[in-house]
Amino acid sequence: MNLSVNIAGVTLKNPVVTASGTFGSGFEYSEMTDLNKLGAVVTKGVANVPWEGNPTPRVAEVYGGMLNAIGLENPGVDVFIERDIPFLRKFDTRIIANVCGHSVEEYIETIEKLNETDVDMFEMNFSCPNVKQGAIAFGQDPHVLEATAKAVKAASKKPVIIKLSPNVTSIKDMALAAEAGGADAISLINTLIGMKIDINKRKFVLANKTGGFSGPAVKPVAVRMVYEASHAVKIPVIGMGGISDADDAIEFILAGATAVAVGTMNFIDPQTTAKVAAGIEAYMKKYNVEDIKELVGAVS
Ligand SMILES: Cc1cc2nc3c(=O)[nH]c(=O)nc-3n(C[C@H](O)[C@H](O)[C@H](O)COP(=O)(O)O)c2cc1C
Repeated sequence: MNLSVNIAGVTLKNPVVTASGTFGSGFEYSEMTDLNKLGAVVTKGVANVPWEGNPTPRVAEVYGGMLNAIGLENPGVDVFIERDIPFLRKFDTRIIANVCGHSVEEYIETIEKLNETDVDMFEMNFSCPNVKQGAIAFGQDPHVLEATAKAVKAASKKPVIIKLSPNVTSIKDMALAAEAGGADAISLINTLIGMKIDINKRKFVLANKTGGFSGPAVKPVAVRMVYEASHAVKIPVIGMGGISDADDAIEFILAGATAVAVGTMNFIDPQTTAKVAAGIEAYMKKYNVEDIKELVGAVS
């Protein structure tokens, strides 16, 4: 039985990876789950310099998931290279570095430093506020997305995954723009924009007022978007959004995802990723599926 998948020339031993920002660089999780069982660890977003993140409170529980407005707090690429990459290299798993920035120049500065390391791929978070375009995210305008993808791709010595925001009218247009910009793969969905109000205090629960909505409740939206995006492009798709177990992951694969990422559920059960990988294998045995590729986009 074959569970391995190929994303832009990089082989993952199985299709299950961590969703950026929900697994750090695996330090704490490695004590609770075996990182060797994962197709890849996708690290928390890293920028050219340290980012402080947003004021607290910056997470809140909501029905079926959570809101977060962490604001991409990170220690900067130099610390990431010295501390996080050597740690992850001890495990038999791929490393996908998630990159954030406020401008094309910031993305490129980070990528140029990471080019010289042995991370396997980059995942570009284009949901970051774009300082040059009135803080609208790079991923919300197909022209900006395509131009940013082209610039990043030209600077990169590694395969580039473009992560798509679901906060758009047409996910198909964004997927096509990423492909036209030279992306080697796309991943989706990032968080939906949400809000929570404390009715007794008549105040916003998050200091930032809005936050990214993730967790089981977003899954039907994510499955639909993965279906639409994967049918629009030829490049592979990494699907995520509300995956709690192997059944959820298989839904994404049948919709057209070559690989899947587990995010918010890591906070509930740190072993979810490894359990999802084992559950996919059990499903393949049950239905006599020889190769995971037979399931990709197999919905009818
Ligand atoms: C606390 C938190 C932090 C996140 N940080 C990042 C990040 O740094 N970069 C990124 O691209 N996505 C980030 N995300 C989005 C997730 O990677 C994922 O796309 C989203 O949460 C949907 O998957 P889920 O429902 O399984 O969590 C973050 C999500 C959460 C909940």
